[in-house]
Amino acid sequence: MIMSVALIWAFVVGLCCCLWLILGFRRRQPGEPPIENGWIPYLGCALQFGANPLEFLRSRQKKFGHIFTCKIAGQYVHFLCDPFSYHSVIRQGRHLDWKKFHFAASVKAFGHESMDPSHGYTTENLHQTFLKTLQGEALPSLIENMMENLQSIMLQSIMLKARCSEWEVDGIFAFCYKVMFESGYLTLFGQELDRDKNVACQQAQKALVLSALENYKEFDKIFPALVAGLPIHVFKSGHNARENLAKSMLHENLSKRTKISDLISLRMQLNDTLSTFNELSKARTHVAILWASQANTLPATFWTLFYLIRCPAAMKAAREEVRNTFESSNQKVDPKDPRLTLTREQLDNMPVLDSIIKEAMRLSSASLNVRVAKEDFLLHLDNKKSYRIRKDDVIALYPQMLHFDPEIYDDPLTYKYDRYLDENRQEKTSFYRGGRKLRYYYMPFGSGVTKCPGRFFAVHEIKQFLALALSYFEIELLDPGVKVPPLDQSRAGLGILQPTYDIDFRYRLKTQ
Ligand code: HEM
Repeated sequence: MIMSVALIWAFVVGLCCCLWLILGFRRRQPGEPPIENGWIPYLGCALQFGANPLEFLRSRQKKFGHIFTCKIAGQYVHFLCDPFSYHSVIRQGRHLDWKKFHFAASVKAFGHESMDPSHGYTTENLHQTFLKTLQGEALPSLIENMMENLQSIMLQSIMLKARCSEWEVDGIFAFCYKVMFESGYLTLFGQELDRDKNVACQQAQKALVLSALENYKEFDKIFPALVAGLPIHVFKSGHNARENLAKSMLHENLSKRTKISDLISLRMQLNDTLSTFNELSKARTHVAILWASQANTLPATFWTLFYLIRCPAAMKAAREEVRNTFESSNQKVDPKDPRLTLTREQLDNMPVLDSIIKEAMRLSSASLNVRVAKEDFLLHLDNKKSYRIRKDDVIALYPQMLHFDPEIYDDPLTYKYDRYLDENRQEKTSFYRGGRKLRYYYMPFGSGVTKCPGRFFAVHEIKQFLALALSYFEIELLDPGVKVPPLDQSRAGLGILQPTYDIDFRYRLKTQ
């Protein structure tokens, strides 16, 4: 009897080991981080992680400590949860590759050929193109065009009304999407060449941009599924939407436009001279830029405006800062002659709006910072421990853990508009954990070499949007006691999350 139980036991253990190997479960080797394979073949922990990444990671951090490995959709991901060790990943040692993941994700989602020069389709250094055309000397013209576009789009529909001082009701999300998408689109991709200023032409141009917005929204819905690896052909309307956008961005169409940004005109030139892409592939690279420029900015604008309207103290401080800024440069608010301007220096000198935006993004950002191990190596953590990492494994940082850490941010779920202001009402940069000053405490734009190249423009355009909305309009929530809508977790890992539903508000022109 004892013999047969032992045999059965040995058989079961043997079977489990075989299944373990067949299903691709990994065994932890000495020196490696603790591992959780999950029980579902291939997917591993993907479903639990996807349902609520923050909760999942917090519970594993409690169990395993600063670093642990999870199998997620066939990939072994080492999650690093200690902010004091972030620099060992961010400083971009020779063992870590950022390109592989980024280039592959872009190809999967947008359907162009690889932009990685080592794959042989282009010799363009995309990173350099972004830095050259989105930062430094490129900023003033982006700012100027954005301000002009925002102003005319915000005021256009309301000024056409017979009684423009009446309240207009809209969703905050819907309003932000319409105004910011159209303004951002025109700022990057320019305007129809032969557009004259008559109302019919303006409306035709508007209809084209609004159709691009519909296509963008349809495509954006399937974006998480594409990044997860599902083929676009499964999604008929999302696929059509992406291709409609691409067709509108064929070089033959873009070259008929005027006031195109440096970014798009340089990318067109480099596509034509340095790549072997066909025309559709070139156009799809522009769709990728459209998506990158809007996908985070639109929800970030929603959250900023939502929290601002809901917080009277924030509203008061913001109105004061905006009024002072325009007054100090002798500008008058006049919706019949909308010519407000803000220079880069003025925008950079608005610490209250800065803090208002940062706090909204802290509460809504859920980006995943990812690097791939180029070879087997030892990852050194701040606590002097080192862990063995295998070639092709992924190392991930999930900054939402920082953003919601009660040791760093007191009462982390509450919106405090002045959280990023110091005692002199200037930008606050000192945040602590366990008595130690943190280098990394706010990361909605990613980190290191993959940090968003459009981050300065993004913050400028949200400030411009707020400065104009507060100058021209009275703004109120329909329900002043409305609750904060939950974050849509289905997009966790991709950046600023959207709300699960829209919130109604009303606005009308201020009587000057
Ligand atoms: C609130 C607004 C924005 C947020 C939160 C944001 C955030 C991010 C994040 C997290 C990344 C990826 C970083 C990584 O993988 O580690 C990224 C990449 C990128 N962003 Fe932004 N972004 C915003 C607005 C913009 C705007 C307005 C533009 C352009 C006009 C832009 C252009 C890009 C580009 C081109 C990349 C890819 C960079 C590369 O792969 O080299 N972003 N952004």
